[in-house]
Amino acid sequence: MKKKQIAIVTGASSGIGRRIAAGLPARYSLDELWVIARSGDKLRALREELNIPVRALPFDLTKEESISALRTLLKEEQPEIKVLVNASGYGKFERFDRIAETDAAGMVDLNCRALTLVMQAALPYCAKGSIIVNIASVAAFQPVPFGAEYAATKAYVLALSRAVNKELRPRGIRVLAVCPYWTKTDFFDRANGDNVITHFDCMYDPAFIANKTFKAMKKKKDYVVPGFVAKATHALTKLLPHSLVMRVFLAQQHLNNK
Ligand SMILES: NC(=O)c1ccc[n+]([C@@H]2O[C@H](COP(=O)([O-])OP(=O)(O)OC[C@H]3O[C@@H](n4cnc5c(N)ncnc54)[C@H](OP(=O)(O)O)[C@@H]3O)[C@@H](O)[C@H]2O)c1
Repeated sequence: MKKKQIAIVTGASSGIGRRIAAGLPARYSLDELWVIARSGDKLRALREELNIPVRALPFDLTKEESISALRTLLKEEQPEIKVLVNASGYGKFERFDRIAETDAAGMVDLNCRALTLVMQAALPYCAKGSIIVNIASVAAFQPVPFGAEYAATKAYVLALSRAVNKELRPRGIRVLAVCPYWTKTDFFDRANGDNVITHFDCMYDPAFIANKTFKAMKKKKDYVVPGFVAKATHALTKLLPHSLVMRVFLAQQHLNNK
C-alpha cells in the first residue's frame, strides 16, 4: 500500500511558518498537512483555508511529552514525510544577564533542542526527495549584542542544518537553512517587548520570505538569505571583522541605561 504523503510544519500558527504551511499544498502533492504550535485554534483555522486535510497538533515543543506524542503518531501512521519545516522559534532582545531564567532555557529548548528532536523523529519517515527546512536567521552569521543568546541558537541551527545536509546526501534527502532578516511578524511582541532594539533599517514581509523559501527548496542550496538587504548584511559579516560589525550595530541602537 502506498504510504500517505505528508508535510509537517512547526510554528504554523503565525508568521513565516504559517505562510509556508499555507503555500505547501499548491507546490507539493500531499495527502495531509500536519501543523504544530501551541495555539490549537489558529492551527484549526488553517483547515478552513486549505483544500487538503490538515491535522492540527497543538504541542508545546519545549515539553518532552510533545516530542513523544509526535513520535507515537508517526509510528502509528507510518507516513512518508515529503517536507518538514521547523519554523517554531523565539528570541528575547535584552542584556544577557537580565533575561529571565525561563527564557534563557526556553530559547535553547525551542530553537535548538526541539528542532533537533523533531528532525530526528522525522528522518526515519523521510525518503529520496524529502526536504527539511529549518528557519535560522541572518543573526546566525554574527554575534548580536542584546540578542546574544538568540543569535547563538540560530548559529546552531545553521551549522546543524548544513552539516546534516551533507550527511544525508547519499539518501537523497536535503536540509535547507533559511536565514531571514527582520520580518514583520508577532516575533517582535515576544522578542522586543521592552524596545531594547530600536533600529530596524528594513522589515520584510513573511510572504516574501515564504516565496523565497519555496524557490530555494527547488534548488540545491543548503542555505538561503532572502532579499537584497539581508544578502548585503550577510556579505558584510563575511568581509568585516565581527568586532566592527557589532560596534556598528550597537551604534545604531539607542541603548542608553544599558
Ligand atoms: N521575524 C523575524 O524578524 C525573524 C527573523 C529571522 C528569523 N526568524 C525566525 O523565524 C521563525 C518564525 O518566527 P516568526 O517571525 O514567524 O514569528 P512568530 O509569528 O512569532 O512565529 C513563531 C511560531 O513559533 C511558535 N511557537 C512559539 N513557541 C512555541 C512552542 N513552545 N512550541 C511550539 N511552537 C511554538 C508560535 O506558535 P504558538 O505561539 O501558537 O506556539 C508561532 O507559530 C522563528 O524561528 C524565528 O526565530 C524570525
